[in-house]
Amino acid sequence: MRELADYRDEFPILADTTYLINHSLGAMPRNAEQRVAEYAHMWKTRGIRAWGEGWWNMPLTVGDQIGRIIGAPPGTTTMHQNVTIAEAIVLSCFRFEGERRRIVYEEGNFPSVRYLYQAQAERGGEIVVVPEREPVRDAIDERTLLVPVTHVLFKTGEIQDVEAIVERAHAAGAHVVLDAYQSAGTVPLDVTELGVSFAVGGSVKWLCGGPGAGWLYVRPDLVERLEPALAGWQAHARPFAFEPEMEYAEGAARFLTGTPNVPALYAATAGYDLIEDVGVERIREHSVRQTDLLARLIDDAGFELTGPRDPARRGGTVTVRTPEFEAVHRELAEREILCDFRPESGLRLGPHFFTTDDELRFTVEQIVDIVSTGAYERHADVTARF
Ligand SMILES: Cc1ncc(COP(=O)(O)O)c(C=O)c1O
Repeated sequence: MRELADYRDEFPILADTTYLINHSLGAMPRNAEQRVAEYAHMWKTRGIRAWGEGWWNMPLTVGDQIGRIIGAPPGTTTMHQNVTIAEAIVLSCFRFEGERRRIVYEEGNFPSVRYLYQAQAERGGEIVVVPEREPVRDAIDERTLLVPVTHVLFKTGEIQDVEAIVERAHAAGAHVVLDAYQSAGTVPLDVTELGVSFAVGGSVKWLCGGPGAGWLYVRPDLVERLEPALAGWQAHARPFAFEPEMEYAEGAARFLTGTPNVPALYAATAGYDLIEDVGVERIREHSVRQTDLLARLIDDAGFELTGPRDPARRGGTVTVRTPEFEAVHRELAEREILCDFRPESGLRLGPHFFTTDDELRFTVEQIVDIVSTGAYERHADVTARF
């Protein structure tokens, strides 16, 4: 078995930076450049023939690779531009009328998810927002149609108790739509075992796949039953017949829209290959150990840990509040340590399977130095904005 440290060569940016921003933009695998070149070569030399030689089916073939990472059977996962589109396709399968027209969602959902579901109030949906720290499951009843929730919350990196939500939703006859963007590739996820109706995510973060490669899983028993209104010619049974009326394709293809984002799908598979090669269980083991180490280093330095302390509830990201964290973040970037921050939770540090313990020690040492010497003060313009 290849040592985790041996994978560092696969990520060129690690030679110059301490890369702790994998919860936002995962490090680019070296091979992604090669894949994009393959795409260009195919376009250049095969021209129109490329569609029949793989391009047309990529939303399904690449979707099956995602399926292997999230525990979905072949033929249930399709590729889309982003989570917003994937969730919009799910929404387009439902009408909000009669007794069952509630959408129960948690306040901690990512904004684009929230905006989309809030907008359903205009289509007859009744929106119930569950405040942070209150259990979503208690708000689900027989009037509930959809329950869009997040596996790992983006602000704090906290893992949600999805099993309990699914159990309640099933008892009430509601559908859970799981946003697994912050878990796929770092926290083991088995959508089949969880029994969620839908799951969505993207590739920008822990999957190290870059932008433009969102995904949608639909539970096998629902695939043939649903008729998405947001569908394009790729969703038709005979797309090249250009028929005037829609007849849905068999299987997950019915959830497709128009022309796929081919270059993004080429680029993304380089990351998926590495995630599959290492295995999410192994990634999680490394992540739990490293986020624990980070938590200890942060405690010892006297800063406030704002995310979960319990490793079982902590995703791949550790959040820490330091004085003037916006300016500290800017100074860290000047020192080639890349992370980000959120106003409510402070700095977000997201190591991945290629991160070394020494990099974590170095980062906390630098934070201590920046705060104790006042080095952040030269970024006073950033501080003034918040
Ligand atoms: C949990 C979660 N969902 C969704 C998104 C992004 O949504 P979209 O793909 O629509 O940009 C993010 C981050 O960018 C996220 O952290």
